[in-house]
Amino acid sequence: MLLETFAAGGCRSYVVGCEATRSAVLIDPELSLIDRYRGHLAQTGLVLHYIVDTHTHADHFSASRELGKALGVPVVMNRLSPAPYPDLRLDDGDMLIAGQLKLRALHTPGHTRDSLCLVMDDRVFTGDTLLIGGTGRTDLPTGDPHALHESLFDRLLKLPGETLVFPAHEYKGRDHTTIAEEIASNPRLQKTDRAEFVAMMQALDLAAPTHLTEALRTNMTGAKSVAQLLAEASAKAPFMSMQELSGRLGGNSRDLVVLDLREKDAFEQGHLPGARHLPRGQLELRVNAEFPDPTVRIVTCCEFGKISTLAAVTLRELGFLRVAALDGGVKAWREAGLPLDG
Ligand SMILES: [Fe+2]
Repeated sequence: MLLETFAAGGCRSYVVGCEATRSAVLIDPELSLIDRYRGHLAQTGLVLHYIVDTHTHADHFSASRELGKALGVPVVMNRLSPAPYPDLRLDDGDMLIAGQLKLRALHTPGHTRDSLCLVMDDRVFTGDTLLIGGTGRTDLPTGDPHALHESLFDRLLKLPGETLVFPAHEYKGRDHTTIAEEIASNPRLQKTDRAEFVAMMQALDLAAPTHLTEALRTNMTGAKSVAQLLAEASAKAPFMSMQELSGRLGGNSRDLVVLDLREKDAFEQGHLPGARHLPRGQLELRVNAEFPDPTVRIVTCCEFGKISTLAAVTLRELGFLRVAALDGGVKAWREAGLPLDG
């Protein structure tokens, strides 16, 4: 069996491969690592059969949907997952087979209602149900400390003690542990009494994960995150550097229009020399009147360089094929000491 572990911050994802058949399964992929997964698959000659999310993640953006679509691989989640996009929904005891790999789903609610662990030969991928020296939290949507107690003590910890544990989070760089080691030394598992365990979990008082609402929204619906929207836009429009633009503005033949998309107040407080003003909110409504010539060279700008990127893509979609976005925004332009008109 081949196992590759990927880390993004504290998040862990795994590619498990069958050596004989080159079949593979990807567990808990993270959006920022898509190119790394693809690189790994290309390098090893492994072919994905399934992409599994062990639960609805609230703390990071799942890459399942996007990778599944790009590679034509089914996305697998718990039957109880609220996400509308899984191609395959597992019940407790269902098994996935990829080459000689056999992964059995163990329904372990508690961290979330749709949490599952994947048992394979000598190991178990525990998602956030069991971590090294910890457990998943139970205070986020659909979390339930009573259910977690049952999932741990009546199910997961009943696996043979030597079973290797591969969690979906690890913050101290440890590779894996075993069920026996966790039973012996995991502080949370020392509270075996249900009431005491529940009281401990309820008293944790943890800070909310950084991207909680957006991660839940995108992971539950399969929609795009703002960062994803921007990354996609960046791939659809070229940029112009501040140096290039300032050189062109200083030249004799001015062959381009700088289009400032900020609100009126911001524009009046200082804009690039000769810039034209068209707030983003009115772009589609006024573009026909403002730019009758679709061959005009336009460089879009805004305060931070994000709205201008989205607007450049919109303009290109509308047929203005010589549009670029300023790399950086008016803020960066100002900080670079480049000239502004008031
Ligand atoms: Fe989680």
